[in-house]
Amino acid sequence: MGVFPNENATAHRYSGPIDRENALSSPDPYCLSRPAQRKARPRRREGLLDHLMARIAIVYHSGAGHTRKLAEAVERGVLAAGGQAVLLPVEAFNSDEPGPASQARWALLDASDAIIFGAPTYMGGVSAPFKAFLDATSQRWVRHAWKDKFAAGFTNSGNLSGDKLNTLTTIMLAAMQHGMIWISLGLHPPASDDLNGPGAETINRLGSFMGAMAQSSVMLVADLAPPAGDLRTGELLGERVAILTARFLGERK
Ligand SMILES: Cc1cc2nc3c(=O)[nH]c(=O)nc-3n(C[C@H](O)[C@H](O)[C@H](O)COP(=O)(O)O)c2cc1C
Repeated sequence: MGVFPNENATAHRYSGPIDRENALSSPDPYCLSRPAQRKARPRRREGLLDHLMARIAIVYHSGAGHTRKLAEAVERGVLAAGGQAVLLPVEAFNSDEPGPASQARWALLDASDAIIFGAPTYMGGVSAPFKAFLDATSQRWVRHAWKDKFAAGFTNSGNLSGDKLNTLTTIMLAAMQHGMIWISLGLHPPASDDLNGPGAETINRLGSFMGAMAQSSVMLVADLAPPAGDLRTGELLGERVAILTARFLGERK
């Protein structure tokens, strides 16, 4: 039996919200065996992934909570598309002492079909804790442990640009170094003739292609930012990764 409790099942799907507090220590981090949570199952598009579950880890850093909101939006998208999701803050990896708990955490990533990476943009690049996590993945790189897994990325910054393309590029390059398969955002930029730019509700408001971008004014707490359109963009990235990963799993069978 592997890390995923239902590894051999084909018709068993995620059935409730992730218990974020206990996800890392739980023997069932994808919460597959929690009947009490079944009622809260998010709505799923019918017919999409009837027989396959994509196991998707979302690894992120967030200093003040804004990027975490984007990570949670990505998670909602994965669940809406019928995938399994687990949210993993990088701190859990960075503070790891070697031992069984640490091994279990890394094993969760190793057992995922896709990993979606997210970092805030700090000083024009990934935040330092996220970079520490990326550096720690080099042990996986040596063994090509994540080769042929799917990967995608998201970032959030204070400015409309804020040089956050560099953050996504860093994430994508790390995924390439691992031999992973990068999934782009797959959304057109908005067509807006408003000189003020697209509104806060607009999907792919910032016109990104490589991954999901969000912007949170530094004057606003995480309850108020990023705006709805950016969060929806994150959801759509999660959906896309879940759908494409499941399609790949189906074809590999
Ligand atoms: C150390 C630091 C560096 C930052 N550098 C940038 C930057 O280069 N570009 C930008 O647009 N915003 C920058 N910001 C703003 C953050 O990207 C923004 O506040 C973001 O919402 C933080 O996300 P978090 O709450 O998940 O940490 C910086 C913030 C901090 C704390």
